[in-house]
Amino acid sequence: MTVKSDAFVFFGATGDLAYKQIFPALQALIRDEDFDLPIIGIARSGWDIEKLRERAKDSVTEHGGLDKRAFGKLVKLLRYVDGDYKQADTYQRLREMLGKAQHPLHYLAIPPSLFETVVKHLDQSGCATGARVVVEKPFGRDLASARELNRTLHRIFPEDAIFRIDHYLGKEAVQNLLYFRFANSFLEPLWNRTYIDSVQITMAESFGVQGRGSFYEEVGCLRDVVQNHMLQVLVLLAMDAPTSHDAEAMRSEKLRLLRAIRPLDPKEVVRGQFRGYRTEQGVAKNSQVETFAAMRLHIDTWRWQGVPFYIRAGKEMPVTCTEVFVDLKCPPLAVFDRIAPRDSNYFRFRLSPDVVISAGVRVKKPGEAMRGENVELIARAQPRRVRLPYARLLGDALRGNAELFGRDDGIEAAWRIIDPALNDAERVLQYNPGTWGPKAADELTAGEEGWHNPVVKKNGNGK
Ligand code: BG6
Repeated sequence: MTVKSDAFVFFGATGDLAYKQIFPALQALIRDEDFDLPIIGIARSGWDIEKLRERAKDSVTEHGGLDKRAFGKLVKLLRYVDGDYKQADTYQRLREMLGKAQHPLHYLAIPPSLFETVVKHLDQSGCATGARVVVEKPFGRDLASARELNRTLHRIFPEDAIFRIDHYLGKEAVQNLLYFRFANSFLEPLWNRTYIDSVQITMAESFGVQGRGSFYEEVGCLRDVVQNHMLQVLVLLAMDAPTSHDAEAMRSEKLRLLRAIRPLDPKEVVRGQFRGYRTEQGVAKNSQVETFAAMRLHIDTWRWQGVPFYIRAGKEMPVTCTEVFVDLKCPPLAVFDRIAPRDSNYFRFRLSPDVVISAGVRVKKPGEAMRGENVELIARAQPRRVRLPYARLLGDALRGNAELFGRDDGIEAAWRIIDPALNDAERVLQYNPGTWGPKAADELTAGEEGWHNPVVKKNGNGK
């Protein structure tokens, strides 16, 4: 039987991720799942527990709202260790605070450059014994560093104690993508090169780097969201059905697909940077880091040969929205009116801010003439997210359920795809905030009549 973790430790307790995601997730776990474990925050900020409690309060208030009962309990469970991650003494104090806990879960919500230092100290102080570790993305900087990080972690933790988090996998809409594909038999006969023309995934954000300039300078768009979030969505769209709902069956099937994706050809990648990025705090005046990336990918399988998959992700776009468009081939003959191919014959999966699963079809307009119009058949339309992805994922990690976390081989397979685009010597192309990125990105999809730009209506979803 898998043991449950008996303490929740998070490094980076005073940081941005803790503020935006971890405190709200902990409050949700307490409210919905009777979470009742010691919570130990660690940071090197010179803070005390009072200040951390204040921070936790602001965090939940700003992200989803304060639940009096659950937050009251969170405050009681919360402890704090202030210390330098490089000093052994920090970990001795952590070990003391862990008391009788035998199976702590350590969440590393810290910059990747610190992972190695922290896990080595966890090991030397005895805090790693019987423990699990949750590692934030990006897992490494490229294939070589991801392999090295896997080696470092494996020296201390067995693979089944390592949870590589990608919060996209915890999103309701992303889960539904997987469910919808494999719970409906009508889809399977269509889901291949015979009926599908191309697939587009767009992750647009209408804001910039929001004060995270120095973090962003280390990563850029490809490492921040493409190697992980976007490839995971692509995998769920393109993978074959797993033989069961077992975590390993699922992860092995994903791996098979990742290994069939051709490494990116830099000629099929466009990197952009929004004008104004270089004046952000923590950003180099001549930075070549991309805040936008668009690419064409190819999957070498019988199912997908010749079907282009496009990914586009960027900051300072016209809207905030993540959407998948699966374009079906046109009917072979226009028996009735001519139709603009891109406005019907598609599946659309809106992953955020709202959740939509729909199919674009043609129906006849009432009247004499055999003329038609486009309509959308909506299978699911939810105005907003129902469950915090971090609450789902942290709850799973505490129970030892790894299904929604990256496995060592899967993470390395994803880096293998992205690697060739990382050291592109080509200068990054500038684009104006509020636009869909550099013009060159449009050329990538020229064969498909361009990109599908998601439209976000003020109240509710929409195309
Ligand atoms: C994070 C990235 O992983 O995902 C951010 O670091 C990005 O740059 C965020 O803004 C988007 O997540 P969500 O859930 O708001 O779509």
